[in-house]
Amino acid sequence: MGDLLTIAMPKGRIFEEAAELLRKAGYQLPPEFEDSRKLIIDVPEEKIRFILAKPMDVTTYVEHGVADLGIAGKDVMLEEERDVYEVLDLKISHCYLAVAGIPGAKVQGVAPKVATKYPNVASSYFREQGEQVEIIKLNGSIELAPLIGLADRIVDIVSTGRTLKENGLVELERITDITSRIIVNPVSYRLKDQRIDDLVERLSNVVDGL
Ligand code: PRP
Repeated sequence: MGDLLTIAMPKGRIFEEAAELLRKAGYQLPPEFEDSRKLIIDVPEEKIRFILAKPMDVTTYVEHGVADLGIAGKDVMLEEERDVYEVLDLKISHCYLAVAGIPGAKVQGVAPKVATKYPNVASSYFREQGEQVEIIKLNGSIELAPLIGLADRIVDIVSTGRTLKENGLVELERITDITSRIIVNPVSYRLKDQRIDDLVERLSNVVDGL
């Protein structure tokens, strides 16, 4: 496997859509690919090694060069600002980042408290709005924060809107649209340009046909 390509794949909701795109692009992935609990999956026929990472960590693997490329949500790219190239919008896993809260709730204190998994994105957004806020970093179940009095508002991903609705929250402001992207390590791009260009072109053809 001389010119092995290592791809960091995000576990979770992006994974299946990304795997489907790779199959449509002609990559022969093993049938158990989507169901496996393995964290490293070698596909010798394609000279590809997949590493399965937490979505927030994909950019870290690619920046450090342990993965040549990866599939990462634009939300993670905005939050992490890593030294990687973003080469293709896969146009999958559409969602958006939004500010949400309890309808009509009064802000407690001087600066509203904002709970989020995206402290950098949230800070820049409110700075641009000229609004002073206190950011509270959480790692998940962000919608809990206003319900139990931890925060006045949240900044989080909205996909179907179901989580907000079922928890009695409303969207207040839409920040930005999100899709998944192919990101590439700059050194890998120099050393494995043909293989990477081939993969990007094949995926790009599939994306254009969607
Ligand atoms: C994400 C996001 C919202 C939810 C939005 O959470 O943080 O909670 O999905 O999706 P919806 O609009 O379709 O309801 P995720 O399921 O990734 O888990 P998390 O709470 O651990 O972040």
